[in-house]
Amino acid sequence: MTDRDTLIEQARAAAAKAYAPYSNFHVGAALAFADGSVVTGANVENASYGMTLCAETVAVGKALSEEWRGPLEAVAVIAGKAGQVGLGEPVSPCGRCRQMLYEVAALGASDPVVWCAGEHEVLEMKLSDLLPRAFGPEALE
Ligand code: THU
Repeated sequence: MTDRDTLIEQARAAAAKAYAPYSNFHVGAALAFADGSVVTGANVENASYGMTLCAETVAVGKALSEEWRGPLEAVAVIAGKAGQVGLGEPVSPCGRCRQMLYEVAALGASDPVVWCAGEHEVLEMKLSDLLPRAFGPEALE
């Protein structure tokens, strides 16, 4: 079983590598697979602001493009202004990222726990709570 605090620290390390010169808001995400593998991502902004990629989306892109297909067990997300990552309220994945995460989860037929780390609390939710009645690959069968 994935250790919560270890995964949060991996997300924190990822956030330190964010490319976010426009918002100055750094986000890190860590995806833990059932075989013990962890894939991380950080947000990647662009001078054309709307092209920004969220940390969770980057992590999903890395995972799928590296052929991770096993059950996704857990996701950790941490965020904050540069130098203050994890020091505010927990931040939960945006709507697009929930959908991106669902794709990986569906491939492995899992419903991962999502930990959103803040200064004083870690929110714990299931992906199915964040994205009920999700649209996924099974709909296209
Ligand atoms: N961001 C993420 O990386 N993940 C989310 O779930 C929400 C927002 C990033 C996008 C942008 O670089 C910055 O946070 C401010 O919106």
